Amino acid sequence: MNQPVHFGKALEAPACVKHQGAIEWVASVAALTKPDRVVWCDGSTAEYDPLCAEMVEAGMLQKLNPVLRPNSYLALSDPTDVARMEDRTFICSKYKEDTGPTNNWVDPAEMRGTLNGLFDGAMRGRTMYVIPFSMGPIGSPIAHVGIELTDSPYVVVSMHVMTRVSPRVWDLIGEKGAYVPAVHSVGAPLVGAAQDVRWPCNKEHKYIVHFPETKEIWSFGSGYGGNALLGKKCFSLRIASIMGKEQGWLAEHMLILGVTSPSGEKSYVAAAFPSACGKTNFAMLVPPPSFNGWKVTTIGEDIAWIKPNADGRLYAINPENGFFGVAPGTSLKTNPNCMATLKANVIFTNVALTPEGDVWWEGMSETPPPRLTDWQGQEWTAEIAKATGRKAAHPNSRFTVPAAQCPSIDPEWDNPKGVPISAFLFGGRRSDTVPLVVEAFNWDAGVYMAATMGSETTAAATGKVGVVRRDPMAMIPFTGYNMADYFDHWLRMGKRVEKRPHIYCVNWFRTDDNGKFVWPGFGENMRVLNWVVERTQGKAHAKETPVGWVPEFDDLNWAGLESFDREKFARVISIDPKQWRHELSLHDELLGMLQNRLPAEIRLRREQLGLAFG
Ligand code: OXD
Ligand code: MN
Repeated sequence: MNQPVHFGKALEAPACVKHQGAIEWVASVAALTKPDRVVWCDGSTAEYDPLCAEMVEAGMLQKLNPVLRPNSYLALSDPTDVARMEDRTFICSKYKEDTGPTNNWVDPAEMRGTLNGLFDGAMRGRTMYVIPFSMGPIGSPIAHVGIELTDSPYVVVSMHVMTRVSPRVWDLIGEKGAYVPAVHSVGAPLVGAAQDVRWPCNKEHKYIVHFPETKEIWSFGSGYGGNALLGKKCFSLRIASIMGKEQGWLAEHMLILGVTSPSGEKSYVAAAFPSACGKTNFAMLVPPPSFNGWKVTTIGEDIAWIKPNADGRLYAINPENGFFGVAPGTSLKTNPNCMATLKANVIFTNVALTPEGDVWWEGMSETPPPRLTDWQGQEWTAEIAKATGRKAAHPNSRFTVPAAQCPSIDPEWDNPKGVPISAFLFGGRRSDTVPLVVEAFNWDAGVYMAATMGSETTAAATGKVGVVRRDPMAMIPFTGYNMADYFDHWLRMGKRVEKRPHIYCVNWFRTDDNGKFVWPGFGENMRVLNWVVERTQGKAHAKETPVGWVPEFDDLNWAGLESFDREKFARVISIDPKQWRHELSLHDELLGMLQNRLPAEIRLRREQLGLAFG
């Protein structure tokens, strides 16, 4: 972006950095952003602990009570910087059609001009950290590496948890190896007498920008989650989806879990759900007591990278090293494994603080503690909440925690080879229309089903909550290229592998006439998982419907849930032709938008469904 400049001693790269291109790139970003210092990170505890201590000293983090929550911190963000901002996220491909109608596009030259202006001097008075990181086990054939430059120490410590930060990345890229360059600034230079604030960000300008042709990421103005931890959504989904299309693999918004039957048979399932629809809970599912001998283990809870293997199967890794999960609603009842994971070494963001120096959020316990400090640092009691409607924790408040701490972590979670996938699940949040579970007739019908998935929006992104929007493969905010080409890529991946996973659609969220969820969800989802796994093994029965194969009541194991009778089951599994005719007209809104690049297989399946519902 800029000419490399001379840099003084403090800017000199460590000896292990042999990549002249990377050294010059770091220098050019430093020349543009003009930080006071450059620090080359190594991912060690000796780096993490003093950085946290500095942030505590500066009032940017609070240390939690070391007895109740050892080695853990709380960050409270600026109230305007609390979630991913899809309207400020851009894919700047050379041609607009390559970005497609579901993404924001700006001409790359124009965007570079804007960014040059914004980044000029953006790091003044701050330190620029150089973070070498791997997404996936370092050196795994499924993993890829990146370098993030940031002026946020909060981002550095979060990257330590969420990715593998290590100088070994420099060895891996050697003198000429590929890496994804990612630049981040909170956009709040400290000039003159300016004092730093608890959560620096830029209230006026926010840009989260991806350049597909050069695989670069530039993020300005926000310090929050996916906007700032650039290994996550920006690299592992948007840029990686482009790499996957070019190189023949898949980067997906999916959890990965292992299911072991009492006889010891193990299968791996990957499941895509939109943000804040229970991926973390599903990934850490505890089977009900009546499923004695069944075990669910966790590989990942947000992202999967999936590559074809020589044995004809698709193998997946979790590219992340930690969990950045939504706190509200997480409790010993809904996700005991997650609660145990959160016992220590956590960075919490925007949850409430107890007088004892521990954390709380809505849903953690039925009754809130009598007094709290809320996510904006104000006094909070149940009475205040009743009178004002104020939440103690922000609905998108988060925890950042090492994956290895999870009691249900799968022994293979760190295996560079990945794990073979037997089934893909796609789930939306739908109060009607979509049945509890349905198996696609074949790969192409499954791709159609996933491509036309809809879901009610949540607090994970800014914007209105609870509106149904089409969210193909739960990737609407994360596909880095034209959605029609993405469908085509999925169809072609099916042709590349001999042993294709089966594809399912699931919906835990059907409601009754009073708006109450009918399906109990959480651990009870094991019943559906059991059927899915046995279907992939050719062991379970199903009934044919126009949308695919569904279980009949007697096809699921109901032991221990006798209260869920045939009538309730009918409510969650029914396929109402009137609702489906409406649903198909909603599919047409998305398909119509993608029209000229839509693959023939998708058109054909739409026609078949139209005929089936008359
Ligand atoms: C996330 C999201 O943070 O999907 O995982 O928003
Ligand atoms: Mn996510």
